[in-house]
This record gives sequence, C-alpha cells and structure tokens, in this order.
Amino acid sequence: MLSTLRTALFATAALAAAPAFADVNIYSYRQPELIKPLMDQFTKETGIKVNIAFLKKGMLERLKAEGKRSPADLIFTVDIARLGGAVEAGVTQPVSSDILSANIPADLRDPDGQWFGLTTRARVIFASKTRAPEGPATYDELADPKWKGRICTRSGTHAYTVALVSAAIYHMGPDGAKTWLEGVKSNLARRPQGNDRAQVKAVWAGECDVALGNTYYMGKMVNNPEQVAWADSVNVVFPVFKGGGTHVNVSGMAMAKFAPNRDDALKLMEFLASPEAQEIYAEQNYEYPIAPGTKPSELVQSWGSFMPDDVNLMDIAKLRGPALRLIETVDFDG
Ligand SMILES: [Fe+2]
Repeated sequence: MLSTLRTALFATAALAAAPAFADVNIYSYRQPELIKPLMDQFTKETGIKVNIAFLKKGMLERLKAEGKRSPADLIFTVDIARLGGAVEAGVTQPVSSDILSANIPADLRDPDGQWFGLTTRARVIFASKTRAPEGPATYDELADPKWKGRICTRSGTHAYTVALVSAAIYHMGPDGAKTWLEGVKSNLARRPQGNDRAQVKAVWAGECDVALGNTYYMGKMVNNPEQVAWADSVNVVFPVFKGGGTHVNVSGMAMAKFAPNRDDALKLMEFLASPEAQEIYAEQNYEYPIAPGTKPSELVQSWGSFMPDDVNLMDIAKLRGPALRLIETVDFDG
C-alpha cells in the first residue's frame, strides 16, 4: 500500500515538476510487483530507496519531453526492439562496469554499455496435449500445410512477432522468410488477435491446436486460478530454426541519459545483475537468468531445456524494419 502510494506520488511528481529525488527512480514497462521484492532487498542492503513509475506506454516520448529535468535514472523494459529503440531515441547513456560485464554475457548487452539484459524468455509453441502433443518441432514447420487451420497467434505487428520474423529473415533469407510467413498465415485458425495467453485459451477452447507464445506466460497461467486450465491443456514445445535454435528475447535495463542519481543507479544495476538477484528476478517473472552458473526456477525447468538460437540480438534489432515490411507485404493480420 505504502509503495503503491509512493509510486503514485512519484508518477504524479514526475509528470509535474520532475524534482530530483535522493533515491533511484525507475521508469518501467515491467509491472512493479515483479521487481518490488528485489528493490526492497536492495534498499535493505544499501539504504537507497527505489521509486518505480510503472508506464504502460509512451516512455520514450516522456523521457524526451522531460529532457534534462527528467527524474528517471533507470529504464526497465523488455524486447531488444524497445531497448534498441531507447538507444536510438537518445534517452540512454553508456555505462561501463566490470561487475556488469562479468555477470551479463556479451551477446546480451550493448557493446557500448547503452543497455544490459537481465533475463531471457523463449518464444515457443503451446501445443494441445490431445490434438498435437508433439507440436511442430521447427518454426519452419508452422508453414507446413499439415497445420492448416490449426495455428493461433497474436498480431504480426506486436514486438514479439516482429522479433520472431526478424529471426526468420536472418535464418531463411528475405525470400525464404516471405514464403514461410505466407505459409504460416494460410495455416491460421483465425485472424491474429489477443495477447499470448488468449492464444492458449483458444487452444483450450478447441479453436486451434497450436499457439505461439512466450515461455513465462505458462508460469503466469499456472498460478492463476482462472487460467490454470488453459495451461494444463498444452505442452510447451521448444521449436528451432533449421541450423539454429529456439528464438529468445531479453528483458533489460538502461541508464537514463540525464540520470540525476547516476552513482546509486549504477549500484542498483550491479545489484540486479548479480547471480543471486537474477535468479530471484527470473523466478518472479518465470524467465531465464543469464549470469554464469544461474538456474531458472523449478517450474521453468520443468518445461524442459532448449538450445537458444545463436543469432545475435543486435542482428534481430537490425532486421526490425525489413520484418515489419514483410509482415505488411503478406498482410499477416488481414
Ligand atoms: Fe509479455
């Protein structure tokens, strides 16, 4: 309650005069309850308070509008496109830290230190236990006519789909990816709609046999009394690209360009990158920690192991434009 109040007050203050707090201020696209336990731990260890402004949209616009008066020290978001977008928008600053470098693999952070990954998630197939228990073993197979009228997915323009299509372009080339995406479209059971969990619900309801979704939604559904039946109706299948692995994306953080409390914010970044904190964070979110030697939660482990795709996330980010154009060309949502 107190923290909710503080968050609300902070959000209001940030909108108004943007005063400099003697704390660390976070603009987050991630829900506060996911990160709050860790922040409490950090405050306990360091005495530094953390304010989280949870934003649903418009973070970059807000940071740009606030400029030098922005109270934001750190930015929390998911997806390489959004992290890259923040860098492109000029609202981040580089950070160099031996602790961050040691705990975050090089392919999961910006070479210039403009953003750092904290956890990963895989984009997998949720396959009906009764009608498609094995699911498609590869992403390529989603275009196979044997899946005609059996696939559900969210919009082609959503960041998760765009990243997957970017990976398809990387592995199949532009022409191959076009043929593939047309094939996937022609196999859809219905027009793309709803979020990832809505696809699993559709499998549960018998509208389709396989759905595309991010791994952590399985954890969210399992722990939601209204959704656990949806989760129980599917197997988690980790498809691979031919010659590659399972598509993964990243959740991460960046130092805001005008961070008023940079030193304390860096302490928080280093705290969050520690193997212990990553495991707690990943457990809260049902994601995969990335520091050497860390393990996902038992629930997440129970879905099985997989080989992450070897494509560099920077390459995925670079292919965002071509991916969006391809999605438009094949009129994926039409
Ligand atoms: Fe999500």
